[in-house]
Amino acid sequence: MKIVIIGGSGLIGKKLVNNLRQRGHEVVPASPSSGVNTITGEGLAAALVGAQVVVDVANAPLWEDKAVLEFFETSGRNLLVAEANAGVGHHVALSVVGTDRLLASGYFRAKMAQETMIKASPIPYTIVRATQFFEFVGAIAQSATDGQTVRLPPALMQPIVSDDVAAAMADVAVEKPVNGTVELAGPEPIRLDELVRRYLSANRDARKVTTDVHARYSGIEVNDQSLTPGKSARLGPTRFEDWLSRAIPQR
Ligand SMILES: NC(=O)c1ccc[n+]([C@@H]2O[C@H](COP(=O)([O-])OP(=O)(O)OC[C@H]3O[C@@H](n4cnc5c(N)ncnc54)[C@H](OP(=O)(O)O)[C@@H]3O)[C@@H](O)[C@H]2O)c1
Repeated sequence: MKIVIIGGSGLIGKKLVNNLRQRGHEVVPASPSSGVNTITGEGLAAALVGAQVVVDVANAPLWEDKAVLEFFETSGRNLLVAEANAGVGHHVALSVVGTDRLLASGYFRAKMAQETMIKASPIPYTIVRATQFFEFVGAIAQSATDGQTVRLPPALMQPIVSDDVAAAMADVAVEKPVNGTVELAGPEPIRLDELVRRYLSANRDARKVTTDVHARYSGIEVNDQSLTPGKSARLGPTRFEDWLSRAIPQR
């Protein structure tokens, strides 16, 4: 199959390109760094010629409320029109578990707008909602840091490593469209404050995590339901502890 990966140079995109190539597919990474831009439309029609499947794993360069909404709306609209013109038979997109419960955040309103456009388009689709990536934990810590204190809520979550996301996205890309949403999560639940505590400790980072039920995640208060997947989620096998011991150089 010819499969186009929008955002094919990103964290998930690169791994997805490799994974699908290893399975013998013709894979085209498409993003501004390879001359394909879903905002301006540059290179898009040419990249999609003959493609059966398009996987959208692009992300907005700016996460400010207006900018991120404009990105996902414009990118989604241009992409779906180009796919209709090219006769693409399956649109796969990566979104986030709990998006509909997190709409007080501008980022999640933008992801919701992306999902809504996909559902309204005539192109058969599969939306994959994943939980937070292990690789994103450092950024979560950073955004919650004030001096030497990292203030975080004890909300349950079930994060996943990017390799497992890419493998599951590759499976979905070659399966039939479900015209619905599938969820994807890591193997075990963990609380957000505890996750960051373990991450900082493994990094020998001196910052201390303070648990605060009112501390915000992505600008909003979250509880044990906000970030957790449903019972039928597909689970990646990699445990956070195993990733930590591999990802962080031992000193
Ligand atoms: N972070 C998390 O924990 C998490 C959890 C669940 C789901 N997700 C979702 O996962 C997706 C991928 O995230 P990621 O961390 O892999 O992203 P990333 O590493 O930040 O990569 C972003 C990609 O988007 C591309 N891009 C930017 N502007 C573009 C444009 N105008 N046209 C086409 N491509 C464009 C970039 O291309 P260039 O390199 O060429 O600029 C890059 O390939 C996102 O949609 C995000 O919402 C993230």
